[in-house]
Amino acid sequence: YYQQKADSIMALMTLEEKIGQLNLPAAGDITTGQASSSNIAEKIKEGQVGGLFNLKSAEKIRDVQRIAVEESRLGIPLLFGMDVIHGYETIFPIPLGLSSTWDMDLVRESARIAAREAGADGINWTFSPMTDISRDPRWGRVSEGNGEDPFLASRIAEAMIQGYQGDDLSLENTILACVKHFALYGAGEAGRDYNTVDMSRVRMYNEYFPPYKAAIEAGVGTVMTAFNEVDGIPASANKWLMTDVLREEWGFDGFVVTDYTAINEMVDHGIGDLQHVSALALKAGVDMDMVGEGFLNTLKKSLEEGKITEKTIDAACRRILIAKLKLGLFEDPYRYANPERSKKEVFSEENRQKAREIASESFVLMKNENQTLPLKKGSTIALVGPMADNTENMTGTWSVAANFEKSISLRKGLENAIPDPSKVLYAKGSNIVADSLLESRVSIFGKPTYRDDRSTAVMIEEALEVAQRADVIVAAMGESAEMSGEASSLSNIELQENQRELLEALLQTGKPVVVVLFTGRPLALGWEKENIPAILNVWFAGSQAGDAIADVLFGEVNPSGKLSMTFPQNVGQIPIYYNHKNTGRPLPEGEWFQKFRSNYLDVSNEPLFPFGFGMSYTTFEYGEMTLDKAKLKGEEKLIVKIPVRNTGSVKGKEVVQLYIRDKVASITRPVKELKGFKKISIDPGQTVEVSFELTVEDLKFYGYDLSYDWEPGEFEIMVGGDSQNLIKETVNWEK
Ligand code: IFM
Repeated sequence: YYQQKADSIMALMTLEEKIGQLNLPAAGDITTGQASSSNIAEKIKEGQVGGLFNLKSAEKIRDVQRIAVEESRLGIPLLFGMDVIHGYETIFPIPLGLSSTWDMDLVRESARIAAREAGADGINWTFSPMTDISRDPRWGRVSEGNGEDPFLASRIAEAMIQGYQGDDLSLENTILACVKHFALYGAGEAGRDYNTVDMSRVRMYNEYFPPYKAAIEAGVGTVMTAFNEVDGIPASANKWLMTDVLREEWGFDGFVVTDYTAINEMVDHGIGDLQHVSALALKAGVDMDMVGEGFLNTLKKSLEEGKITEKTIDAACRRILIAKLKLGLFEDPYRYANPERSKKEVFSEENRQKAREIASESFVLMKNENQTLPLKKGSTIALVGPMADNTENMTGTWSVAANFEKSISLRKGLENAIPDPSKVLYAKGSNIVADSLLESRVSIFGKPTYRDDRSTAVMIEEALEVAQRADVIVAAMGESAEMSGEASSLSNIELQENQRELLEALLQTGKPVVVVLFTGRPLALGWEKENIPAILNVWFAGSQAGDAIADVLFGEVNPSGKLSMTFPQNVGQIPIYYNHKNTGRPLPEGEWFQKFRSNYLDVSNEPLFPFGFGMSYTTFEYGEMTLDKAKLKGEEKLIVKIPVRNTGSVKGKEVVQLYIRDKVASITRPVKELKGFKKISIDPGQTVEVSFELTVEDLKFYGYDLSYDWEPGEFEIMVGGDSQNLIKETVNWEK
């Protein structure tokens, strides 16, 4: 039906109008403040624009849509895109934080709310989810992804797509999703953004492709290309990637959009001039050109010169029209821009409550010596640190539609939570960024990093004065929002030196210190782990961050987040990830170092905090694991059961994780792989029996020839509360 409909529209279109549908300029309303193309309105009238992105408000979008519908020859409606990657005005935790909830219902719910809010304001297409696996916290964009594990990231991709797109794209509360960045963007060398990627296909298929594939299987409508090269060919010109894998192997039938100017950048990659790379991109399977106008300005010429065919242009145009048809835009071009609905939906009380709940589930308690946490509501709290009274930085990267004035800072959250707000004594204590890291560099989109002209010494003095009068010190430390996200790679991932200086001074007071850590990436916190009694990692928690953090600090909510990415001891250990290979010279378990083994002289192989790790205000004890069979054949199922007991005095949630290891195979296999998880709530003293089911589907992998199958033999089955503390059993699984 959609195809026929699209073809009937295309029968009326000129070549120029078809090429126009492939063009996606930026409106420039937000983020950069600059439109990417001059005369956008003129171009829309001429039929030279297929969609526009980063325009905010129902009214503005209606105005622009009106130009397309009423003033262009064929009246084809526009798509309106935006990077709604962790909420629209109601901001949820950054994706790395969302993934730490390990709660797929909450992840889905966050995407659904984002779609409802953005949709009411006229956005019908979000550039999310980003499912790039990364093992390199130097890369700032780990904040936008779901961590290092293909299994967890796949479940999250599915949940987000269900949340955004629902079951029916034509409903006004569902919007088109876009899985990005296809492919391997998270594997850039040395964690430097946009850098070269070089990887074996076995690794791609087994470790990096699964979340993109899961997104396609979940029905994602669009795919965004990556900036990097794959096998020596930039992703946006890579026919193997875009056509052979994506469309032919995986059956993707939506449309492919490039990342921002990714076609033009192929000139710098060194594979040809703009006309040539634009033709390459189209032939490789790209349908829409974001911002660079390579398609708009060169495809006609390439067609005249016989370098591309009209059939290829038609195929791209058809896919874009089909997306518009599925969204119902031809029936009602304004359905997504509804000022009335916007007033009701956007930043509603209900949505903010949900954001608060989800944020509190994403926090990871990393350390809690002497039960420093939860805090007592009657105590006097010295709230210090550059993240304490700051809303712009606590929401995190790509909070493009956020309303910072209405967001809840940590200071406000603490004051809201206690009967006598004057018991929160505040001092900033330090700048976010040390003088050695030039402020101008840490300001991509112009958000202030709250720089104070006073010297570090003066600010520390002020913090100490406040600390002296308090029972406990809450130090809000970490990164500014711009220090992670796009174009924000770091070679040093320790806490900034001025913040460390402040912490050292605070410890000297002898008062208990709690670090509330704001971060968009795993940091190397060796010193902090050693010296600070309590550390609560809150990532960038969104518009309700302050209230959510207060909920956890005061014990209204028991922390239950678990890391989706390993924290290294130091930057030299990177890449460090739980599902590594064994090598031919593994270090025996529990050892620090052995000569001629795979290890370092100066640091152990252990992470600082492993994948899957996170503490609670209660404790959980894992009982004896039972497997219903020790030997299996073919399609039989294995049932794994384990009792988990809450041995503390408060109710808590535990993420029970199931890993397997394929002991012998035709290619080397990881020492463990996540294959299941369940987040369960357990009352004090209660024991819950958790069960998992494994089938041969869970044993499959891509072999040397990239065929997908399982191989018989011994498998280790492991269950526990993180990727290191696991109870193990072995089974034999024969064909
Ligand atoms: O969606 C983003 C992408 O992830 C990075 N470059 C810009 C795009 C549009 O804003």
